[in-house]
Amino acid sequence: MSFKQLAHGFDKLDLHSLPSPCYVVDEAKIEDNLRILHYVQEQSGAKILLALKAFSMYSLAPLVMKYLKGVCASGLNEAKLGREEFNGEVHSYAAAFRPQEFAQIVELSDHVVFNSCSQWAHYREQALSYKNSKEKLSFGVRINPQHSEGETPLYDPCAPCSRMGIRIEDMAQLNFQGLSGLHFHTLCEHNFDPLARTLDAIEKNYGQYLHQVNWVNFGGGHHITREDYDREKLIHRIKAFRQKYNVEVYLEPGEAIALNAGVLVTEVLDTLHNSMDIAIIDASATCHMPDVLEMPYRPVLTGAADAGKKPYTYRLGGPSCLAGDVVGDYSFDRPLHAGDRFMFEDMAIYTMVKNTTFNGINLPAIVVWDSTTQQTKSIKHFSYRDFKQRLS
Ligand SMILES: Cc1ncc(COP(=O)(O)O)c(C=O)c1O
Repeated sequence: MSFKQLAHGFDKLDLHSLPSPCYVVDEAKIEDNLRILHYVQEQSGAKILLALKAFSMYSLAPLVMKYLKGVCASGLNEAKLGREEFNGEVHSYAAAFRPQEFAQIVELSDHVVFNSCSQWAHYREQALSYKNSKEKLSFGVRINPQHSEGETPLYDPCAPCSRMGIRIEDMAQLNFQGLSGLHFHTLCEHNFDPLARTLDAIEKNYGQYLHQVNWVNFGGGHHITREDYDREKLIHRIKAFRQKYNVEVYLEPGEAIALNAGVLVTEVLDTLHNSMDIAIIDASATCHMPDVLEMPYRPVLTGAADAGKKPYTYRLGGPSCLAGDVVGDYSFDRPLHAGDRFMFEDMAIYTMVKNTTFNGINLPAIVVWDSTTQQTKSIKHFSYRDFKQRLS
């Protein structure tokens, strides 16, 4: 089935009516993404969770929970947020749980996923003791199928010497009694074919274990809401997998929920020249869009082109002291001036959840916008108090 997506356009946003810098999230686009995910759920029988690590905007929790089954958490704080704000399942996984937090994690969660044989051995008895009072509580382990699809080692949990998940050669050490599920997370912004190859590797090596569990969690990294994603193949494979092993299938994407649903609005503070034209903007790569430096990548800037394509090329850099706080080189139709505003695209994911106040730079405000009605709602504005509150 082809999905008719609404024509969303941040081009209708009145940038000068907004605070700067500011993240603007289009709730209509989020709902479009959620409808697609819901369709995949309905057709495949899989359950889809929002990975809070990518997008924790709990003001939109009622909208998210109209379509999805719950959230996945990376530790105690996300598990608490999931339980408090999202009215659905909470699945928790961490590379290692902290002993002083474990009881609370279990209390808050429906599924708890352990990363290693030693973590499960360490917590097994304690974990199983909670099952008497919480019938639906379920435990699983993360596997490492040692099948890499990603090209960036930073985002490849199957890279050599990875600390993520149990390799097939280590499965013999695992006490399988008390475990009901397997979890893997190996993908990043991928289409269906890399998932298919990963599943082939898992079915080949972990087949005997797949027959012993009640659920398998396929992790995140599935770009299901991207236009070119092959959703019908995904649905077909999930159905076949569920039938073959008689298991429930979970997916826990983060990006797919808020893909292309947010922008970061920024203003030019100054322009200068040092061998090339430079513009200093009030948004910072290191503080407000850290993946730009971590990954690294150059975000799309609406209306601008690659360096040299349009008559005026500028290097855009943030207000911090970090020499490398540079978003990238872009070209424009006209020279830039202080007060000019523009927006970086696809900034709802892995931004608000990762940003910092390095140099005392304020966090961008957060605004929800509806591209179908043009209505804006100011959700949060950050001030000196927020900066000070984290320090001592
Ligand atoms: C265990 C796990 N689940 C889910 C996700 C969400 O992935 P994405 O936002 O790429 O879909 C991640 C991302 O790192 C992850 O580590």
